[in-house]
Amino acid sequence: MKKSFFRMSILALTAFSLTFTAGMALASEGCDPGEIVAKFSHVTGGTTHPKVVAANNFAARVNKELDGVMCVEVYPNSTLYGDSKELEALLTGNVQFLAPSLSKFGSYTPKYGVFDLPFVFEDMDAAIRFTNGSAGKDLLNAMSDVGFVGMGYWMSGMKYFSANKPLIVPSDANGLKFRVQTSDVAKAMIAAMGASPQPMAFAEVYGALQTGVVDGQENTWSNIYTKKFFEVQDSTTQTSHQLLAYLFMTSTDFLDSLKPEVRDQLMKIADEVTQQANNEVKAKEAKNRQNILDAGGKINVLTPEQRKQWVDAMKPVWKQFEDEIGADLIQAAAGA
Ligand code: LMR
Repeated sequence: MKKSFFRMSILALTAFSLTFTAGMALASEGCDPGEIVAKFSHVTGGTTHPKVVAANNFAARVNKELDGVMCVEVYPNSTLYGDSKELEALLTGNVQFLAPSLSKFGSYTPKYGVFDLPFVFEDMDAAIRFTNGSAGKDLLNAMSDVGFVGMGYWMSGMKYFSANKPLIVPSDANGLKFRVQTSDVAKAMIAAMGASPQPMAFAEVYGALQTGVVDGQENTWSNIYTKKFFEVQDSTTQTSHQLLAYLFMTSTDFLDSLKPEVRDQLMKIADEVTQQANNEVKAKEAKNRQNILDAGGKINVLTPEQRKQWVDAMKPVWKQFEDEIGADLIQAAAGA
């Protein structure tokens, strides 16, 4: 057990320098014979990121409370699978736990587009209220036909635009190229700003900003700090235009392979880890915002009038997706 926890921490700490092969070799050393080895792959890095902390917490709890039965190995920072392959790997049984952004499920369900609608949630508290309500809970099962099981929503933060020039009003974004996740709503939102959306895997964003392949991106304070995006951008603008949250998930096949008592204990741990992560996320975001400023990054704070211009430019996107997301679902999110 001790070995497992030690290995997990080492993985997290050394993720930046590990090659894929070295990561695999290191990870295969710690689990005890006879334990079910469950891999948890994700794409974020650093030590202060809410997903990094929650994934490590989940692994530590499973490795302690299900010692001798199950052993979770965490592979952060796209060291095992990046954005494009991780969902497929879950279905083929090559990985057992993931926490992808809700913006990355477009090829499986249009419903999660609700989380991407610009300005649909006033803040993370509203998003937590929505996910705790009946519409949000139902959405955990939106992909059960595919074989995906949502165990909980992990909030990550509100999103902000950064670019290679200051963005104060939407017209400042005219003609710029923005990296987006693979979400049709995000693409439409960028187009509504008169800019060009460029879908791209998370692991490629820093290089694309640095070399000018794209001019800007949108993300949380935690991602902008831990991935050092602020170093290769003029500034970040505090738009809070969209939510970033994750689906903490596993597969039906994996859950069905477990004895009922193991499954119950696993789900209990998953639930408690989710609640803890969501209780702590605001403090982590605030700390990473301050980390950006301390490291010399610039943040533009908008006046209410300037922010209203962003709302007016992007909110019409809702109408475009009303049919595929569902007017009722949009109303439930907006009213949370
Ligand atoms: C992104 O691709 O921008 C984020 O979803 C990455 C993450 O998982 O936070």
